[in-house]
Amino acid sequence: MELEKWIEFQRLGDERGDLVALEIGQQQEVPFEIKRVYYIYRTGEGVSRGFHAHKTLKQVAICISGSCNITLDDGFSRLDVHLCSPTKGLLIESFMWREMHSFSENCVLLVLASAHYDESDYIRNYEEFLRVARGHEC
Ligand code: TYD
Repeated sequence: MELEKWIEFQRLGDERGDLVALEIGQQQEVPFEIKRVYYIYRTGEGVSRGFHAHKTLKQVAICISGSCNITLDDGFSRLDVHLCSPTKGLLIESFMWREMHSFSENCVLLVLASAHYDESDYIRNYEEFLRVARGHEC
């Protein structure tokens, strides 16, 4: 599976500065209906978070300020991806283990999600994730 999938957002800026608009129901770029938006900010120095996969949830992560890294793992290979652009969204499919780290001090990570928050959709145990992702167990 291709780990790194980017979505490019149109920059509507002018001489005053930049602007990106994502309209619910209109956004052609995001391959799901957006049901939830959340953002991660003021992350402490050296903090890593995530360490889970989702059974059904799809997400797009956009670093709208500063920078951070997301390690993606589909159960077969790992890739560390650098996010630093408000016009580039990283598509994170279901059954993709993710670890967020290396947050800059001013980092704001905006996440678009395909469903409401549901703890039962999480896989938080890496061994369990590997078993499921490699197709040994459901
Ligand atoms: P968590 O998913 O553990 O954060 P991360 O994976 O980024 O390290 O979420 C942290 C807390 O916030 C946890 O108690 C669940 C809660 N939460 C919500 O209530 N709604 C949400 O949309 C998200 C993403 C988290």
